[in-house]
Amino acid sequence: MGRIQFDYKDKVVMVTGAAAGIGRETALMFSKNGAKLALCDLDEKAGEQLVKEITNSGGEAFFYPCDVSQSKNIKAFVDETLKKYGQLNCACNNAGIEGASASIVDCTEENWDQVININLKGVWLSMKYQVPEILKSGGGAIVNLSSIAGLIGFPGLAAYTASKHGIAGLTKTASLEFAQKNIRVNAVCPGPIMTPMLERLMSVTPGFKDQVLLGIPERRIGKPEDVANAVLYLCSEQASYITGQCLAVDGGWVAQ
Ligand SMILES: NC(=O)c1ccc[n+]([C@@H]2O[C@H](COP(=O)([O-])OP(=O)(O)OC[C@H]3O[C@@H](n4cnc5c(N)ncnc54)[C@H](O)[C@@H]3O)[C@@H](O)[C@H]2O)c1
Repeated sequence: MGRIQFDYKDKVVMVTGAAAGIGRETALMFSKNGAKLALCDLDEKAGEQLVKEITNSGGEAFFYPCDVSQSKNIKAFVDETLKKYGQLNCACNNAGIEGASASIVDCTEENWDQVININLKGVWLSMKYQVPEILKSGGGAIVNLSSIAGLIGFPGLAAYTASKHGIAGLTKTASLEFAQKNIRVNAVCPGPIMTPMLERLMSVTPGFKDQVLLGIPERRIGKPEDVANAVLYLCSEQASYITGQCLAVDGGWVAQ
């Protein structure tokens, strides 16, 4: 599949949860399109490895170890970005966890709090500290990672589904708050994408892959690149009239 070409030269782009899966592919794609990258993750080793990969191929990036659910961490990451690059133009708030699979009744408070804190509070905190800097930099765009579980219900994934619906609400609200201030805010809602997260989900449920494939009209599991393409488009000038949207990237799942 060919890559979309965008002009991100002289743009500073922040990606959270960049060490694996969708975040990693998004960071690589932004770099190939000229952006300077500010990357964070809990996984320091894989994050530093990614920076090496980017710089070895002529790009610019730094890694900051950070838990997006911790206010101090995310504020320090944004501060570091400003110190390194002097501006912030775009952000892809991607860090997230699947949590334990559990119904409403069986979901523990610990699981609930952890999933909501990382997936939902993490996106809010990220935007809280990114927006003032994007404003100072003259405007830009934010893309948050929701999910098809942010558009429809999934039995057995109560906390995850609630967190991803929450991201849709946060995204729409942020888009309205900044619509006249030159910041566009959208969400992408991936269907099943082949990443370490999906591999973990497949490994705990026998027959999960075949079951999932049957749910996807295109009958294929998505690639991280499918999502990264959408993120780069939504952050680009070409999407200048698109804000407050939750775009499914799902091979047709939610069209059914
Ligand atoms: N893979 C899918 O099928 C799928 C589908 C829909 C939505 N999503 C969403 O896309 C995003 C990325 O998913 P993925 O499949 O690439 O996941 P992944 O688990 O493969 O990678 C996620 C990365 O985020 C990091 N991370 C986790 N918690 C963090 C925290 N508190 N602070 C900073 N970094 C943290 C992990 O270390 C990891 O490197 C998530 O928000 C996920 O919910 C994924």
